[in-house]
Amino acid sequence: MKDYYTSKTILITGGAQGIGKGIAQAFARAGAQVIITDIDQEAGQEAQEWLQNQELQVEFIACDVSEEEQVVALMEQVGQKYSQLDALINNAGIANPDVGPLQDLSISSFDKVIAVNLRGPLLCTKYALPLLQKATHPAILNISSTRAFMSEPNTFPYSASKGGLEALTHSLAVSLTKPRIRVNAIAPGWIEVGPWEKESKRYEPNHREQDKEQHPVGRVGLPEDIAEAALFLCSDKAGFITGQSLTIDGGMTVKMIYS
Ligand SMILES: NC(=O)c1ccc[n+]([C@@H]2O[C@H](COP(=O)([O-])OP(=O)(O)OC[C@H]3O[C@@H](n4cnc5c(N)ncnc54)[C@H](O)[C@@H]3O)[C@@H](O)[C@H]2O)c1
Repeated sequence: MKDYYTSKTILITGGAQGIGKGIAQAFARAGAQVIITDIDQEAGQEAQEWLQNQELQVEFIACDVSEEEQVVALMEQVGQKYSQLDALINNAGIANPDVGPLQDLSISSFDKVIAVNLRGPLLCTKYALPLLQKATHPAILNISSTRAFMSEPNTFPYSASKGGLEALTHSLAVSLTKPRIRVNAIAPGWIEVGPWEKESKRYEPNHREQDKEQHPVGRVGLPEDIAEAALFLCSDKAGFITGQSLTIDGGMTVKMIYS
């Protein structure tokens, strides 16, 4: 992928930690100029420094993706400095799904998750369009979740937001055709992000045997697993793929469970 991504510019939301940080490292290693945006300034500065120390081309710009004015300002800043975007990766999300029983759910907490996980990708896509339209093979990648298709109890806002993001993906794919922008999703399963968090939140994973064994591949996922697929889906090697969602979950969602 090195040749393809050299001199390409990629914007990754929520790129300061976790899966987004893993994706940022992979694209920068492949030769891209990477812009990471995140609401967490401390994490963003840390990630920028960590990646720049690896001689990678990365810039952090702070932004809350659920706030329209901030997204407008972000894209203006990106446009002034980089003039075009080859890919937008909508990864930022409130990633803790369990909100407790429905009777106790505050509607404002539901709205907050929808605003970040669903409105965020829509806003970023809308205001990135003029920059994406300047690229030769522009691509959008939405990071959804297997929770879009199945649920644990009490995960209403998260599951609904990711279900919406899956639908937004195919809706955008059939709409953004003049000029042509491919739009796909990745639906990750359990991805261990402990070592990829900012220093004050970082932890070493300690998976039980049953955590690993419940995955047909025998382990929990890594940000690198998502990053590899992201590199492919945003490149011209995936030029005939649009409106699709790729589940990356070590096989958990195809496993039939009888008790
Ligand atoms: N880790 C998993 O097991 C898993 C599984 C399925 C899907 N996902 C999805 O992958 C994405 C990344 O998750 P993660 O596990 O790396 O989580 P994470 O919490 O490690 O990273 C998410 C990043 O998004 C940022 N963010 C949150 N709200 C934001 C906002 N309003 N504006 C800008 N940035 C914001 C956070 O500050 C953080 O840096 C999320 O969309 C999540 O739903 C994660």
